[in-house]
Amino acid sequence: MKVIVCSSYEMVSVKAAQIVRSHVREKPDSVFGLATGGTPLRMYDLLAEDHRLNGTSYQKAVSFNLDEYVGLNRSHPNSYHYYMQSHFFSKVDLLPANRFVPDGLASDLQEECEQYEKQIKDEGGIDLQILGLGENGHIGFNEPGTSFKKGTHVTTLTNDTRKANARFFKNQREVPHYAITMGLNTIIQAKKIVLLAAGRKKAKAVKRMITGPVTESFPASILQTHSDVTILIDKEASFEN
Ligand code: GLP
Repeated sequence: MKVIVCSSYEMVSVKAAQIVRSHVREKPDSVFGLATGGTPLRMYDLLAEDHRLNGTSYQKAVSFNLDEYVGLNRSHPNSYHYYMQSHFFSKVDLLPANRFVPDGLASDLQEECEQYEKQIKDEGGIDLQILGLGENGHIGFNEPGTSFKKGTHVTTLTNDTRKANARFFKNQREVPHYAITMGLNTIIQAKKIVLLAAGRKKAKAVKRMITGPVTESFPASILQTHSDVTILIDKEASFEN
């Protein structure tokens, strides 16, 4: 694991955007794994700005989002479809046919998960996976206790996660109980992984991810087993602080 402690959240975002930008410039047909949540917001802003000012193009690229809530309509402001549309897809030239986000309204969710996993394989796998980190160690929506062997699947969100994400909803009752998420086995097969974490609230999880035992009770610890992982954190999320 390569751990980079940045001076601020802004610098975490700048560094992450630089990695994405160089990737798509070197390999225009890159397959990206994308994350939502509060942390990557500024990275998406910077990528949109870079596209606008410097013309970095995503026309040949493909993207797969990590997860989506079950039961939220695409136009629901808290769906990850809506998030991606407002913060990234509407601002760059990634083709609609090449943007994949799990369908949390699929009539057969199991089938949707299998199909999603197959689509990732058909595109040749993920070249660069962007990740955030849950305070309880989740990545995507892989909650503590999830088998490392799982591919894309339907998961039940823990109370901790529903509480942490309630800030985006009117109240916690509105946060869905289920989600579709790429599995840990899907994530770990990405060729390169970049995880972003910022703020004091994440410091404990960052420490455990980097220095703790590799265990299914702390999903992000699986990243220790991958040969090309970069962890971008700000000072507050750093346990040395
Ligand atoms: C959410 C998402 C994760 C995200 C994590 C951290 O539950 N499903 O993909 O990485 O929470 O989010 P934030 O960056 O808002 O702290």
